[in-house]
Amino acid sequence: MRFFLVLFFIVALLDAQTAYERGKNLYMQKGCHGCHGTKAEGMHNYPRLANRAKGFLTYKLKRFRSKISDKQQQEMMIPFAVGLSDENIHDIVTFLYEYKEDDLDEKYDDSFENWGDGGS
Ligand code: HEC
Repeated sequence: MRFFLVLFFIVALLDAQTAYERGKNLYMQKGCHGCHGTKAEGMHNYPRLANRAKGFLTYKLKRFRSKISDKQQQEMMIPFAVGLSDENIHDIVTFLYEYKEDDLDEKYDDSFENWGDGGS
């Protein structure tokens, strides 16, 4: 019995990882990064998506998929959302919500501190 519990958790864990991976692939394949940035950081009028609430992201994507936009600027999202299945949306949203910066991107040393009495 305990064996099955352990197995269940392993499967659940693997599944969580693959949703993230699948979402990441979709994010790149579907061209989302072209507007929202390769780190989902957003640019210009394209909102940041990284680490935003799952419920909000899902709600917005489903609205765009139903061709509903609240302002003209959002209309360009519609063609990118219409092709997404519920599962695609789930995976992309999981990826965005859990998004972690790749270690490779940490170019700067942020351990430097400039408080104190330096510089007088
Ligand atoms: C051609 C540029 C473009 C592409 C490509 C694009 N988006 Fe968008 N996205 C936008 C714009 C513009 C908005 C709306 C901004 C606003 O409401 O003012 C938006 C809004 C969103 C929102 C709602 C965020 C918010 O703060 O309201 C989500 C979620 C989103 N996009 C996800 C995606 C996903 C996932 C993809 C890929 C399938 C994608 N976008 C591809 C331009 C784009």
